[in-house]
Amino acid sequence: MSRELRNALSCFATGVTVITTHHGGQDFGLTCSSFNSVSLEPAIVLWSINSASSSKKPILESGGYTVSVLAAEHAELAMKFCRDSHEERFRGVGIHRAPSGRAIIEGAVAWFDCDLNGVVAAGDHDILLGKVNHFHSQQGEGLVFERSRFGRVGEVA
Ligand SMILES: Cc1cc2nc3c(=O)[nH]c(=O)nc-3n(C[C@H](O)[C@H](O)[C@H](O)COP(=O)(O)O)c2cc1C
Repeated sequence: MSRELRNALSCFATGVTVITTHHGGQDFGLTCSSFNSVSLEPAIVLWSINSASSSKKPILESGGYTVSVLAAEHAELAMKFCRDSHEERFRGVGIHRAPSGRAIIEGAVAWFDCDLNGVVAAGDHDILLGKVNHFHSQQGEGLVFERSRFGRVGEVA
């Protein structure tokens, strides 16, 4: 059931993000495709984190996160941010800092700097709502994830 469900869900194409936080003087970050918009006024977003994720505690304790929407050329970086130690994930990766001080991935097509504004337990994940304090977007093609493959939107209908 679980594998079939995973396969069926993977047919839903998404963008890919890296979500970062900064806690105890250290950067944390993980690859995430569950990011989505919720409300425009006020500006609220969400994503879901595996309850076992090592990023959960630093995000909850620091009270915020920053979402970098990855560009089409970031496929390798997306894999880097779901492996290794958090320190290793940032090694050799260009970043700049959001107003909150959290890391933004260089070349991201958009970013959202958020205060954590709600946690909803949902099975083996937690939904993390975020109030957007600052954001930015720029020209560029986003990275797409579908059926466990990275790609790009070749042509928009
Ligand atoms: C394309 C892609 C999308 C992912 N989306 C999510 C997600 O939405 N939520 C999540 O918790 N993990 C997601 N992951 C898995 C995490 O990036 C991975 O488990 C990571 O190792 C978690 O790191 P941590 O345990 O150190 O926080 C995704 C991985 C990939 C490759």
